[in-house]
Amino acid sequence: MTKLKDEARPMTEEADFLQIKSVDHVHFYVGNAKHAMYYWWKAYGFKPVAYSGLETGNREFASYVLESGQARLVLSAAYSPSSPIAAHHMVHGDGVKAIALEVDDVEKAWKETTARGGKSAWAPREEKDANGIFRTSAIYTYGETLHVFVDRDDYKGTFAPTYKALKYEAQSTGLAAIDHIVGNVQLGKMNHWVNFYHQVMGFRQLMHFDDQDISTEYSALMSKVMQNGNGRVKFPINEPAEGRKKSQIEEYLDYYLSPGAQHLAIITGDILETVQQLRANGVEFLRVPNSYYEALPERIGKIKEDYKTIQELGILVDKDDEGYLLQIFTRPLQDRPTMFIEVIQRHGSQSFGKGNFKALFEALEIEQDKRGNL
Ligand code: FE2
Repeated sequence: MTKLKDEARPMTEEADFLQIKSVDHVHFYVGNAKHAMYYWWKAYGFKPVAYSGLETGNREFASYVLESGQARLVLSAAYSPSSPIAAHHMVHGDGVKAIALEVDDVEKAWKETTARGGKSAWAPREEKDANGIFRTSAIYTYGETLHVFVDRDDYKGTFAPTYKALKYEAQSTGLAAIDHIVGNVQLGKMNHWVNFYHQVMGFRQLMHFDDQDISTEYSALMSKVMQNGNGRVKFPINEPAEGRKKSQIEEYLDYYLSPGAQHLAIITGDILETVQQLRANGVEFLRVPNSYYEALPERIGKIKEDYKTIQELGILVDKDDEGYLLQIFTRPLQDRPTMFIEVIQRHGSQSFGKGNFKALFEALEIEQDKRGNL
């Protein structure tokens, strides 16, 4: 891994022309929004807070909004085969359609990004109801994925027009906020999308990993991490690298049928507690071989958490010169081997767990082999 310290310095206002505040929400298109809502509610402890559908005057699609801490997900499914959601779902299966970003001015965001070569998905528009004005605009990123710019300053309702509040109780698992969202792109396209985030969105490159860093015999990939001006939005971009057999990124592309979001990393303040609860709720995680844990205390040194519990729960640990991090990866969320979730806790470290890549990718290959896709 090479950390690019100079480029990670805070950006001037001019370079950070988008002034993104944070990820507003991540919007999944799914086959059955009610089932997906139940899964995120009961397995991940997200609280369903809003619903849009036939009962609220939305004749096009059913949609649930769920929150855990500052992390907000939207799950939508089509009512009819002519819906663009149905078309997206038929090609890609369940997956992330949009990564929405909160900005002050959706018109400026759209003008600036499209003038720099971003492809428009929709021009600035206002949706109004009794609760005010909800403003959005959107551009395309990799594959069919969108970045929707959202301004909710003049909107006082629940989430957006047509959505009504839900009063569900949820048993939180401690998931607090989105840490990063990784995109998988085709072989040879990583730098194209790195340039997109730099030139069109004003992001800077935080670090890169080459195929020496991230390769096992089979599952090689290359990755660069792009970050916005305030450092709250981090988008690593992966491309497959040549290996002896099929890269995990190629497997994703074969099943998603286009570039798309590979994983969503969600931060917790207590990963031991969070993973214990997620496991109890039936969430399935990748398991690295036990030999990983034999070398761990020596590699990492003294940490706050108990190594025995870390091993029992299958959590991974990595450190760099700023501190350490703990992380764990789920199996794919849907039938297709595409999107998965990472749970991460940071103790100073701002990196992405490079020291775990080898063990992790070996574990991934075992699963890939079971699917007949290696
Ligand atoms: Fe990650």
